[in-house]
Amino acid sequence: MGPRRSAASSRGRLLLPLLLLGVSGFFQSYAVEVDIKDASNATCLYANWMMRFLITYESNNGDYKTTTLNLSSSATHNGSVCGNDTQAALVAVQFGEGHSWSINITKNNETYQGDFMTLTYNTNDTAVFPDAKRKGPVTIFIKDPAGPVQLNTVFVCHNSFDIEAENITQIFWNVTLQAFVQNGTVSKKETRCPADRPTSAPTVPPTSANATTAPTTAAPPAPTPPKPVENPDTGNYSLKSGNKTCFLATVGLQVNVSQDKPLLININPKTTVADGACGNTTATLKLNDGNSTLIGFTFAVKNASASVQKFYLREVNVTLLNHLNGSVISSADNNNLSKWDAFLGSSYMCRKEQTLQINENVQVHTFNLWIQPFLVEANKFATAQECSLDDDSILIPIVVGAALAVLIAIIVVAYIIGRRKSYAGYQTL
Ligand SMILES: *[C@@H]1O[C@H](CO)[C@@H](O)[C@H](O)[C@H]1NC(C)=O
Ligand SMILES: *[C@@H]1O[C@H](CO)[C@@H](O)[C@H](O)[C@H]1NC(C)=O
Ligand SMILES: *[C@@H]1O[C@H](CO)[C@@H](O)[C@H](O)[C@H]1NC(C)=O
Ligand SMILES: *[C@@H]1O[C@H](CO)[C@@H](O)[C@H](O)[C@H]1NC(C)=O
Ligand SMILES: *[C@@H]1O[C@H](CO)[C@@H](O)[C@H](O)[C@H]1NC(C)=O
Ligand SMILES: *[C@@H]1O[C@H](CO)[C@@H](O)[C@H](O)[C@H]1NC(C)=O
Ligand SMILES: *[C@@H]1O[C@H](CO)[C@@H](O)[C@H](O)[C@H]1NC(C)=O
Ligand SMILES: *[C@@H]1O[C@H](CO)[C@@H](O)[C@H](O)[C@H]1NC(C)=O
Repeated sequence: MGPRRSAASSRGRLLLPLLLLGVSGFFQSYAVEVDIKDASNATCLYANWMMRFLITYESNNGDYKTTTLNLSSSATHNGSVCGNDTQAALVAVQFGEGHSWSINITKNNETYQGDFMTLTYNTNDTAVFPDAKRKGPVTIFIKDPAGPVQLNTVFVCHNSFDIEAENITQIFWNVTLQAFVQNGTVSKKETRCPADRPTSAPTVPPTSANATTAPTTAAPPAPTPPKPVENPDTGNYSLKSGNKTCFLATVGLQVNVSQDKPLLININPKTTVADGACGNTTATLKLNDGNSTLIGFTFAVKNASASVQKFYLREVNVTLLNHLNGSVISSADNNNLSKWDAFLGSSYMCRKEQTLQINENVQVHTFNLWIQPFLVEANKFATAQECSLDDDSILIPIVVGAALAVLIAIIVVAYIIGRRKSYAGYQTL
């Protein structure tokens, strides 16, 4: 039996607008401005933007924490170059205690386009990375997913957008950028980001859009009742201990948060990062969907002394982060569960939707679940114990099969009787 994919397609991006709604009032954050001039003192590269990073790192006790790295007021932009002669521009900024970020931009015939973003964060900065296990600079390269921008137009994005990579979420907003500026003047013609475009007409980019009329992702979605989201996509997650896989999970996840208004969040496997720890008697899988939702599952072994040992799901916690500054909006935990039990050495499977009640406001729905928190061998699931919910999916084929058998028997009997009658008929001839 292989892992199944649910039929669901795109996920409902419900969380982002709702969270933005709550934080449009803002907190302290700084814009960076980079204005590079050529030999004749004319602007050849201009950028002004705001950004922050959500970074997951390992702490001394092995837990994973998510922190927010903000720009400081004293950012510098050493190394930024126009590249009008080389067709390759660079916007580079340095900020805080040894952090830096850059993007290189290439020029084509008609367009310019970001190539790679390079982020170096220094976990030795204890204010941002308290209790970090590994201290020192970490550099990651992120391919810029944005499309090309018309030359001699300025790229503008008022709304926030994020770019996910590994254990990092980069969040940008209020972006104005033009590389390969001609004649020293930043263009009046804008190329707007998708987030600034009206959602009803996404194919028509408003080239001279006005900031105040541009519909935004933060436009209140409140009047529309909560849509029944499609089922989440099924993801495959695993943990390693050294070079050996020690935890396997296949699952589609949906979080139901109904604090103020009902909200269903589908976890997107493509952006979700798995962390956690394997152990002999407890194992934890932590999923970070890169879009402000964290879910942790802790499994334990039941009465470790019993001769036949079983494991079970003991604890689930759900943390929702503020999309923009990464601070915790709400956190729910249930450490008194007793679900999904199976013999140690086997896996647990439940294809049907299941609901885990975390607290009065938070539920986690699982789909196409197949999980093995202990004793994974050779990177494969062991024999599965299926949940009782799945039993009727076995029962249905049995019932249908039995009904078919009866039907076939009736047809055969009817046929034989018919043959006999017609045989008798021929005989009379
Ligand atoms: C994050 O933003 C929220 C809402 O604006 C604010 O209440 C909270 O204090 C902020 N937290 C941090 C750490 O900046
Ligand atoms: C650049 O423009 C020239 C002339 O218009 C064309 O022949 C060439 O294929 C273009 N190159 C690219 C990469 O678009
Ligand atoms: C942009 O930077 C990345 C990372 O340093 C590098 O691999 C890539 O070659 C650069 N692209 C160009 C066009 O210089
Ligand atoms: C981290 O910072 C401390 C104090 O600022 C310094 O002594 C130490 O060498 C730094 N370690 C690394 C790896 O940068
Ligand atoms: C965006 O930048 C403008 C000035 O350029 C500033 O007035 C505004 O507050 C910024 N918006 C946010 C959300 O920071
Ligand atoms: C720059 O100046 C030249 C000469 O004045 C002109 O032909 C060209 O159209 C200008 N380009 C832009 C983008 O304004
Ligand atoms: C895993 O690590 C062990 C010991 O460190 C080594 O002997 C083994 O070859 C490694 N296996 C793979 C697949 O890399
Ligand atoms: C979400 O949770 C609320 C309260 O716990 C419940 O009333 C509602 O039926 C749930 N919705 C779904 C789709 O599970």
